[in-house]
Amino acid sequence: MPRMRVDPKLLEALADAAPDALLVVDSKGRIQFANQATLLMFRYPATALIGKPIETLIPARFHPRHRVDRSRYARDPRNRPMGLNLELVGRRGDDSEFPVEVSLSPLGVSGERLVVAAVRDVTELKRSRELLRRSQRQVALAQLAEHAVSTIGVESFCKDMLQVLAELLKLSHAGVCERGHEGKHLRFVAVHGWDDGQALAGIGRVLPSARLQRLLTGDTQQVLLMPGKNARRDPASYLTGAIISLRGPSKVHGLLSLFRRSDEPLSPDEIMFAQSATHLAAAVFERLHHQSLLLQASKMEALGQLTGGVAHDFNNLLTVISGNLQILEDVLFDQPDAQALVASAARAARRGADLTSKLLAFSRKRQLTAQAVDCAHLLGGMRDLLQRTLGEGIELRYRIDPDLQHALADPGQLESAVLNLALNARDAMPRGGALTLSAHQRASSRLARNGADTVVVEVSDSGEGMSREVIARALEPFFTTKAAGKGTGLGLSMVYGFVRHWGGDVRIYSEPGLGTTVRLLLPAAPVQGAPTVLQSQGQKLRGREHLLVVEDDPEVASIAKAQLRSLGYQVTESASINGAIEALTVHRDIRLVFTDVVLLGGETGFQLADRLRVEQPELPVLFCSGYAEAALEDHFSAGAERPRILAKPYAREDLGAAIRALLDRKPGRAGDARP
Ligand SMILES: Nc1ncnc2c1ncn2[C@@H]1O[C@H](COP(=O)(O)OP(=O)(O)OP(=O)(O)O)[C@@H](O)[C@H]1O
Ligand SMILES: [Mg+2]
Repeated sequence: MPRMRVDPKLLEALADAAPDALLVVDSKGRIQFANQATLLMFRYPATALIGKPIETLIPARFHPRHRVDRSRYARDPRNRPMGLNLELVGRRGDDSEFPVEVSLSPLGVSGERLVVAAVRDVTELKRSRELLRRSQRQVALAQLAEHAVSTIGVESFCKDMLQVLAELLKLSHAGVCERGHEGKHLRFVAVHGWDDGQALAGIGRVLPSARLQRLLTGDTQQVLLMPGKNARRDPASYLTGAIISLRGPSKVHGLLSLFRRSDEPLSPDEIMFAQSATHLAAAVFERLHHQSLLLQASKMEALGQLTGGVAHDFNNLLTVISGNLQILEDVLFDQPDAQALVASAARAARRGADLTSKLLAFSRKRQLTAQAVDCAHLLGGMRDLLQRTLGEGIELRYRIDPDLQHALADPGQLESAVLNLALNARDAMPRGGALTLSAHQRASSRLARNGADTVVVEVSDSGEGMSREVIARALEPFFTTKAAGKGTGLGLSMVYGFVRHWGGDVRIYSEPGLGTTVRLLLPAAPVQGAPTVLQSQGQKLRGREHLLVVEDDPEVASIAKAQLRSLGYQVTESASINGAIEALTVHRDIRLVFTDVVLLGGETGFQLADRLRVEQPELPVLFCSGYAEAALEDHFSAGAERPRILAKPYAREDLGAAIRALLDRKPGRAGDARP
C-alpha cells in the first residue's frame, strides 16, 4: 500500500500531543526519542534523556528484573502490555516514584530493532482502585461480622472468612488452625487451596518452631512473610503473606495463615484487613468456647439434681433392706445356711449403698468436710496401695513437690479419687505402661478466691487415650466405654463431685493412642498443721439410755428402732415435731433425739432442734438424711457449727457409734449436738 509522505515535524508534533509518555528505545536499551509528555511525567529537561539507558526511569531495585524482561522481549517482540500482574513503578528525575502502566510495541526502522514504550501515569487510577478495594474489604468485614454473630460452628465461619480473604487478598493458600490443649497440637479448622497436611507442612516450612510458639503464647501477634531470595528469578517460589494469631480475651485460640504467590508483600492496608478478620474469628472462638462450657455446666447441674433425687429415694429403700438384714442376722444366729444367704444379701445392699454414695458425691455441690490436707503426705502414703493396684506391668512414677501447700479437700475422698484415677489408668494400659502421679502448686488466677493458690494433683498414663467425644462425656455419671460388668461409669463423676465440693475443678487432657492426664485443681488452704485423721474404728456402740426417734417414714422408723433396741437402748418414736415435743414432755428421761432432716409437711429436723435449743438446751440431737449435705446448707444458721448428720443408709455400727459419741460428750456446751 502506498504511503503518504509526512513532514517529520508533524510526526514530532503528533508525538508531543499524545497524553502518554512515548519513548523509543534501541536494542541496547538506550533512549532514542522521548516526547514532551515523557519529560513532564519524569521531570527531565528537554534532551536530557536522549542516549541514557531506559533503566534511568526505573527504581534501582527493579533493574535486575527489568533486564531479564528486556532480553526476553527482544527474543519475542510483539505488541503487549509490560509486566502483566506486576505493579510497575517509574522513577522521576528527582528520584520520587509513581505507579505506571506500560505497553510495548516493536518498531523496525532502517534495519534496527527499536521498541516503542507508551507509559501512563496511573497514580490517580491506582488511588481510586485502592479506594474501591478498601470499600470492598469493608463490605466483606461487615458481612463476616454478621456471620460471626449468628454462626453456631467455628468451621463454617472460618471457611467463609478464608474464602473472602483469598478473594480480596489474591491468596493462593490460607488456613485457620485451632490450638489443642495447652497449645500442644494444631488442628486445621478450615483450609483454602490445600489440604490439612499440606497446610501444616506449609506453616512448618516458613516458621521456625520458636516463632510459632511465640505466636501461640501471644507474645507476637503476627509474622509477615517477605519474598524469598529466589523470588525475583523464580516466580514459582514467590511466596509472601502473614501468619496472625487469633487472640481472644482469655487465650490465643489459634492461627490464621495467609500465603500469596507473588513477590509483593501484603500492604499495611491488607494486613489491617486480615487482622480485623482475625479479631472476628477470635470472637467466634471465644463465644462458642464459653457457650460449650455453659452447656456442659448446665448439663452437669441437671444430671446432678436428677441423680441426687434418685439416690435419696434409693437410700431410704437401702436403709430398710440393710436394717432388716441386720436384724435377720441376729434372729438367725443358730442357722448358718440362712445366715450365709443374709450375708450375701447384705453385701449386695452395701454395694448398692456404695453406688448411691458415688451418685451423691456427684450431685452434691459442696462438701462440708473440706479441710486442710497435706497432699504430699497423703499421696506419699498411697505408694504401696497404688503399686499393688497397678500390678507388675505398670511403672509407677512419683513427681511430688515436697513443699506443697495444703489443699482444701477431704483426705478420705481425695485418696479414693486418686485411686479411681489410677484404676482408670490401669484399665487404659492393658499391655503395661507408666503412671505418673504428680502434685505441684500454681499461683492461680481463675480458680482462686481471695487470691488463693491452686494445688494441682495429676494422674498421667501412657495408655490408649480418649477421643474428643469420650473426653466430653467422661465426667457424666454412668458414662462408660467399658464392657458390661467392667465399669459402672461412676468413677470420674464421683471424682468430679468431690473436687467441685472443695471448690476445685477437674481437667482431662488426652489424645487417642498417646495417653491421658487427669488434673485435679484444688484450692490451696492456709497451712493448719497435720490433716485430721479419719474417725478411728471400734468405738463403743451399745447403751441403755432412752432415745427418741423422729422419722416420718414408718418403715425406716421401725428399722432404726429395731437397730437401737438391738444395741440395748430404750426407744420412743414420733413422726413430727409436735409429736416429738409431746413425747419429750411425757418421757422426761429421754437423753438424745435422733431425727430425720426432712420430715413430712415441709418440717425439718433442724426446726425441731431450734425449738429444743430453747426448751431443753442440754439435749443432744443427731440428724440423719438421705440427701446430699449441700441440699441442707440453707437450713444451717450462718456461723453456727455444723450439726452431725448421719448419711442414709447407715449401718447399725455407724448409728451406735454416732449416738455413743454424743451421749459421752462432756457436758457444758449449750445447744444441740455438735461433735
Ligand atoms: N485414664 C484413662 N484412659 C482412657 N480412658 C479413660 C481414662 N479414664 C477414663 N476413661 C474413659 O472415661 C470413661 C468413664 O470413666 P469412669 O471412671 O467414670 O467410669 P468407668 O471407669 O468406665 O467405670 P467405673 O469407674 O465406675 O468402674 C471410661 O469408661 C473410659 O472410656
Ligand atoms: Mg473408672
